[in-house]
Amino acid sequence: MAATSHHLRPILLLLLVLFLSQLAHVHSQTPTAPRPKPKAILLPVRKNGAALQYTTNVRQRAPLVPVKLAVDLGAQMPWVNCEDGYISSSYTPVPCESKLCKLSGSGACHTACYSPPAPGCHNNTCSQNVYNNFIRTSTMGDIAVEAAVFRSTDGKNPGRSVSVPGGVVLTCGYTSMLEGLAKNTRGMVGLGRSPVSLPPVLSSAFGFPNKFAMCLSSSSSQGVVIFGDGPYFLQPSKEVSSFLMNTPLILNPVSTAGAYFEGEPSTDYFINVTGIKFNGRAVPLNSTLLKISKEGSGGTKLSTVDPYMLMETSIYRAVTRAFLNWGKHLKRVRSVKPFEHCFDAKGIGSTRVGPAVPQIELLLGGKGGGSWTIFGANSMVYVGKGEIMCLGLVDGGADARTSIVIGGHQLEDNLVQVDMVKKRLGFTSSLLLHQTTCANFNFTVVV
Ligand SMILES: *[C@@H]1O[C@H](CO)[C@@H](O)[C@H](O)[C@H]1NC(C)=O
Ligand SMILES: *[C@@H]1O[C@H](CO)[C@@H](O)[C@H](O)[C@H]1NC(C)=O
Ligand SMILES: *[C@@H]1O[C@H](CO)[C@@H](O)[C@H](O)[C@H]1NC(C)=O
Ligand SMILES: *[C@@H]1O[C@H](CO)[C@@H](O)[C@H](O)[C@H]1NC(C)=O
Repeated sequence: MAATSHHLRPILLLLLVLFLSQLAHVHSQTPTAPRPKPKAILLPVRKNGAALQYTTNVRQRAPLVPVKLAVDLGAQMPWVNCEDGYISSSYTPVPCESKLCKLSGSGACHTACYSPPAPGCHNNTCSQNVYNNFIRTSTMGDIAVEAAVFRSTDGKNPGRSVSVPGGVVLTCGYTSMLEGLAKNTRGMVGLGRSPVSLPPVLSSAFGFPNKFAMCLSSSSSQGVVIFGDGPYFLQPSKEVSSFLMNTPLILNPVSTAGAYFEGEPSTDYFINVTGIKFNGRAVPLNSTLLKISKEGSGGTKLSTVDPYMLMETSIYRAVTRAFLNWGKHLKRVRSVKPFEHCFDAKGIGSTRVGPAVPQIELLLGGKGGGSWTIFGANSMVYVGKGEIMCLGLVDGGADARTSIVIGGHQLEDNLVQVDMVKKRLGFTSSLLLHQTTCANFNFTVVV
């Protein structure tokens, strides 16, 4: 085996050189074949109903293979398992002391590895946290640059496939870090507020603005993440970016990940919720909890890892009390974990925007004001065979690090746009109001 790998090494090196020079060619196309850079990149995302996770396939490495990854909206950077026969001639370790290493915020260097060189084992390699947010567990892994291919899009259909000039940035995780991830998942894709997550890397590789939109489907049909600016078309030919309302994105100065280097800010997307209304009436809350403290606790963030909205205990109690006050006429049934308040679904009517329950409004401070309205489709959850309906909020505990987490169920069939150019979050509220859903992107390929 050792002899074989010695023979192989020069060939791999040669392949790498060829590959990198090809990447360079893609970057500066010859005048005979001018191909405009894509204005946007498409990433189909599917809900895994069993795991309550959102997953996607990213084609990467050389030769290209599809790698199934769980989406973590707030994560610093993507990571993949490097222990499961990772073979790639385009895997390029990122040296300590490099620009990219600094950019990643790393404070660690993997100085020496005493096994044969392989993805995850190189000397003098920049090292970052590999974070599995589902089990809240971190480890350290090598940072690398890897080839990746995505579909471009004009916002209406998938277009031609394009390889990312310069590649994407990822960290090398281990098989043990896959615990808690949906079946066949080999890592996670981080879309967080960091210079090395997928959105800024694609933005600088292709030269489009550092913005992306995410539309999670509530069904088993695919939803989308579109990197780059709109238009974002959903059938029947709705240009949904026109429905976006905006609120400032707030920087939490202290990381909210499981492990981090000192001074690293949070890579989660926080917004300025200043109050909550239920059925048009303000719910009495301790407003200190809505602010982000110097230690980085409190505030409101978005998450694709928490399947349902989490609220700090006192906020949770206040909101559920308001709901129960309204819902005195409903027939209570036993609790179904993780929910506390469940009802006979027959007693609740239905509307265009889901079960007929009063709206929960998240009041937003700062420029633009406004509120994020949560309708029945995003506040109530059918369980069992659909005969039971539960209030889809979960008690996040009295010591919750973040007071309100807007979870997957609340994000489904809402388009959100992270705009890091203007440091703001666009949100549409329920697309059901506009007679469309996140499953309505037209996946018919146009080349
Ligand atoms: C790292 O350097 C040490 C010491 O020079 C060497 O023994 C080892 O093989 C190197 N490891 C890799 C993965 O190249
Ligand atoms: C409001 O929350 C803050 C932060 O947890 C706490 O220090 C304070 O005592 C709370 N105030 C009231 C009135 O409960
Ligand atoms: C949140 O909004 C309130 C009310 O508009 C404002 O006073 C506060 O400064 C905002 N907080 C941040 C962090 O922007
Ligand atoms: C989907 O896109 C294809 C290609 O652009 C188009 O021909 C077709 O009419 C679209 N379907 C719908 C339902 O809009």
